[in-house]
Amino acid sequence: MIFFYSGCGNSRHVAEKVAEATGDQLVYIPQAAREGKTHYAVRTDERVGFVFPIYSWRPPQLVLDFIGGLRLEGKPSYVYMFVTYGDDAGQADQVLGKALEAAGLQLDAAFGVTMPNTYVNMLFMDVDKPDVVQRKLEEAERRVGEVSGWIAARKRMTDLNRGGAPRLKTFVVGVGFNKWVSDKKYRATDACVSCGRCAEVCPLQNITIEDGRPRWNGHCTHCEACYHYCPQNAVQFGRVTRGKGQYHFDEKNGREK
Ligand SMILES: Cc1cc2nc3c(=O)[nH]c(=O)nc-3n(C[C@H](O)[C@H](O)[C@H](O)COP(=O)(O)O)c2cc1C
Repeated sequence: MIFFYSGCGNSRHVAEKVAEATGDQLVYIPQAAREGKTHYAVRTDERVGFVFPIYSWRPPQLVLDFIGGLRLEGKPSYVYMFVTYGDDAGQADQVLGKALEAAGLQLDAAFGVTMPNTYVNMLFMDVDKPDVVQRKLEEAERRVGEVSGWIAARKRMTDLNRGGAPRLKTFVVGVGFNKWVSDKKYRATDACVSCGRCAEVCPLQNITIEDGRPRWNGHCTHCEACYHYCPQNAVQFGRVTRGKGQYHFDEKNGREK
């Protein structure tokens, strides 16, 4: 079983690739959470995976909340995480490990893959340049294939990029980030054509269209799906996203669109 979450498609692609390689079943965390599905039966020889993007050097809070309510009937033989990040993961595996422990599970392996960056809500943060996007996606295909093989073989190991000062990033910056996250600054410019794409792609179904314009309703993780998928680039976060690029994983060719 593979529990996964994705805002802009990178982690969804990775989860689907792992499912293809292992034959394991996919469970999309936001949908399961919405439907209140917390109980799952697992065989004793089953692999249980968690695939998601790194948010401020931590697992996204909604992943931790889901694990908090998760009840597995039966004990899986192998529990792993496979995360996507623009640069590095800090000590996100330790945060996940603690959450899993509280749910009666032990993290056996932690893997990471570098993918194009999606975070643009801060000054100086933008999407990667097209050549970097292409290089990251090409390298990611190789990496995901390699890690899928390790997962299939139930390898107990940790292989992810922690970056510099990982403890500080995860346990100080990351904790502060979660407190700062809010959708109050999201808005649609006059370029908005009321197509509703932002509402459609929001994993938390946090956006409603009112009087032809999106409205953000206070339940947001800054996944950036509304910003990146907008065909008019009309979604902005205050003034900080002005003039920045868009990226989302394109299922057809794995390239920036
Ligand atoms: C809210 C947010 C926080 C992020 N924080 C980090 C980070 O701490 N380190 C990093 O390398 N990338 C970070 N990123 C980039 C994403 O982890 C990366 O682009 C990921 O592949 C996006 O996955 P998705 O397309 O499945 O949503 C962040 C992205 C978002 C939206």
